[in-house]
Amino acid sequence: MARISCHSHIKGLGLDEEGNASDTSSGLVGQKPARESMGIIVDMIRSKKMAGRAVLMAGPPATGKTAIALALAQELGNKIPFSLMVASEVYSSEVKKTEVLMENFRKAIGLRLKEIKEVYEGEVTELVPCETENPLGGYGKTISNVIVTLKTVKGSKQLKLDPTVYELIQREKIEVGDVIYIEVNTGSVKRQGRSDAFATEYDLEAEEYVPLPKGDVHKKKEVVQDVTLHDIDTANSRSDGGQDVLSMVGQLIKNKKTEITDRLRSEVNVIVNRYIERGVAELVPGVLFIDEVHMLDLECFTYLHRALESSISPIVIFATNRGRTVVRGTEDIKSPHGLPADLLDRTMVIKTMPFTKEEILQIIKIRSQFENVELDDEALVHLGEIGFNSTLRYALQLLSPANYLAKIYKTNIVDLKLIKEVADCFMDAKTSAKTLIKEDEKFMK
Ligand SMILES: Nc1ncnc2c1ncn2[C@@H]1O[C@H](COP(=O)(O)OP(=O)(O)O)[C@@H](O)[C@H]1O
Ligand SMILES: [Mg+2]
Repeated sequence: MARISCHSHIKGLGLDEEGNASDTSSGLVGQKPARESMGIIVDMIRSKKMAGRAVLMAGPPATGKTAIALALAQELGNKIPFSLMVASEVYSSEVKKTEVLMENFRKAIGLRLKEIKEVYEGEVTELVPCETENPLGGYGKTISNVIVTLKTVKGSKQLKLDPTVYELIQREKIEVGDVIYIEVNTGSVKRQGRSDAFATEYDLEAEEYVPLPKGDVHKKKEVVQDVTLHDIDTANSRSDGGQDVLSMVGQLIKNKKTEITDRLRSEVNVIVNRYIERGVAELVPGVLFIDEVHMLDLECFTYLHRALESSISPIVIFATNRGRTVVRGTEDIKSPHGLPADLLDRTMVIKTMPFTKEEILQIIKIRSQFENVELDDEALVHLGEIGFNSTLRYALQLLSPANYLAKIYKTNIVDLKLIKEVADCFMDAKTSAKTLIKEDEKFMK
């Protein structure tokens, strides 16, 4: 979360209908060519012309590479998967490097499943758990069953359901007035939204309102569900299968394995392909974003390259701030951005440029409003200078300690003196590096 929270002011790429970027929109400032190129990528992803391709975002530190990638994720919405990793995550002591890559790879590939199911569907008008004394004695009461009444345009029906269904109802936080469906065969419960009879004009919540279902409560229904290949792998590797994944994909394989292995994945692939051929499922290639990609080594790059060539592949977006550098895992192979030449050859490059002073000021302003930090003019200008001379990231990072200090001084406004005080407390990386060189002999070796 922390990785994302510093980008929380960003709501999208901020492009108009024609795909042109305005100076500031959706929380993003400047970087117009990069945002517009990313807009084209969004279109290509939506029309599924991008699978198996790679994009490299290259630019100096704190020029908005990660920010623009996250804006892309927002544009894609929640139907197209987006998986984010930082390259250094592959170096964990417990899991193989390629395993980490593959897991993220499969989190970025979606499958849209259509299934005809027998369901009870309607707006909840009654929800009453029935308690009995614990049969084993003791104090607690247990739920013996739950009474749920569902209403549709056509009629309503009272159901007496198993206590396990009640657990699911609680887990999905279902209340009277919600529209839900319960699968007859599996007993799994899905909340579709709040009945639109409860919608008010003033409601600012991110609640989804749905109309009262038509037809009978008990019916056959086409259920569409978006899952990722990783969800399916997981559902097939645990004994309970997990209720959130469709019954269908939770039981692809007869003998469940306790771990996700390559073998399990290829079994899943075979069946997924069969579903696609039968038209029950549709592949939705999403995005795998690998930040700080120069941290990957040759073994990872080779593995990625091969995975990109397979028939089931997402779009991979890399980001790096490195110029020409040695490819990790090799002795002395130098390459632009630390990417092996053959992989680089198949990537499209999007560049981010250093911000102008005005843009930096603008971003600091947006961010300070977002964090409820009240900067006076002098403080803002000084922070802008700091951002310009060091990095934007450093300037933004000073906002929250400045606000903290303001509270200690019992003032609401962060002024120049306060900014200077925090800037003295926290050195930026560049200054710190210079100090190290100057005072080298004072440090331990
Ligand atoms: N174009 C932009 N508009 C608004 N905020 C931005 C923009 N670019 C970067 N930021 C913000 O500046 C900070 C540093 O940007 P980041 O995307 O992490 O840089 P990079 O990944 O290039 O090192 C983040 O808090 C980010 O949200
Ligand atoms: Mg970054």
